Amino acid sequence: MDRILITGALGQLGIEFIDHFKKLNSFVLATDIKNPKEKLSCEFELANVLDKDKMDSLVKKYNINVIYHLVAILSANGEKDPFISWKLNMNSFQNIAQISIENKIKKIFWPSSIAIFGTESNLNFVSQNPLMNPTTIYGITKLAGEKLMEYYFNKFGLDIRSLRYPGIISTKTVPGGGTTDYVIEMLNAAKKGNDYVCFLSENTELPMMYIDDAINSAVKLMSVSRKDLSISSSYNITGFSITPKQLLNEMSNNGFEFKVHYEPDFRQQIADTWPKTIDDSLSTRDWGWKPKFGLKESLNKTLN
Ligand code: SER
Repeated sequence: MDRILITGALGQLGIEFIDHFKKLNSFVLATDIKNPKEKLSCEFELANVLDKDKMDSLVKKYNINVIYHLVAILSANGEKDPFISWKLNMNSFQNIAQISIENKIKKIFWPSSIAIFGTESNLNFVSQNPLMNPTTIYGITKLAGEKLMEYYFNKFGLDIRSLRYPGIISTKTVPGGGTTDYVIEMLNAAKKGNDYVCFLSENTELPMMYIDDAINSAVKLMSVSRKDLSISSSYNITGFSITPKQLLNEMSNNGFEFKVHYEPDFRQQIADTWPKTIDDSLSTRDWGWKPKFGLKESLNKTLN
């Protein structure tokens, strides 16, 4: 039986993983640095992943054997203070890796990101292993984490699995400070009948994925035999690619009447170094990845 620890559990992914595992009746311990606003459907402990002793004691107390380590400062927020971002993203990763080795954790899921790529990665269609020169501190920490997960697998047999998530579309939480947040902000504005000021230009194409695909892909990746995985770093994965203009058109087709103004800010420079489309054929080959949600299906789910 899996006994799952989720760190960063109140974030965009964490809340949805909790719901997913609840349906399967799995044991879940959620941790975060703030208390939940409403009672969760699982155990909860207030804990900072930078406090290694506390995390270690929780792993022991609850007999944890699987970890979903989701804590991170995202791309746009990360630029406010790169030193704090490095410290949080990397020290939390190191703490979880060490605790996992010492407590013989079976498997860890840790999200990587499209932020690891850069302008030399052939951004029109990014392969699994191009040149990677990330331009944000967030991307740098994700790439460093990818190197570490490979290293710990080879050195200690530590089984960390990972996906390079694109922008994730969901509405249960408020946007978390990423460069792809405009999608969620635009959806929320439209639902309230407000106009929206978009921080990216109308033709900025980025890869996206509906939340159910993000959760199901991680769970699928975690379920396969390790010997089926031909790489020990993170897998490319994508749902579909869109621009703000295409999103607006599709929302208009769904009957939403609102105006979008474009005022690109520093996040435009970040987006310009991220992929437009992604080659995720290795995920399809190795562990059967197939997205269920395109733009239309994602909007159907989020707008209704
Ligand atoms: N959605 C994330 C961000 O924009 C990408 O990993 O930072």
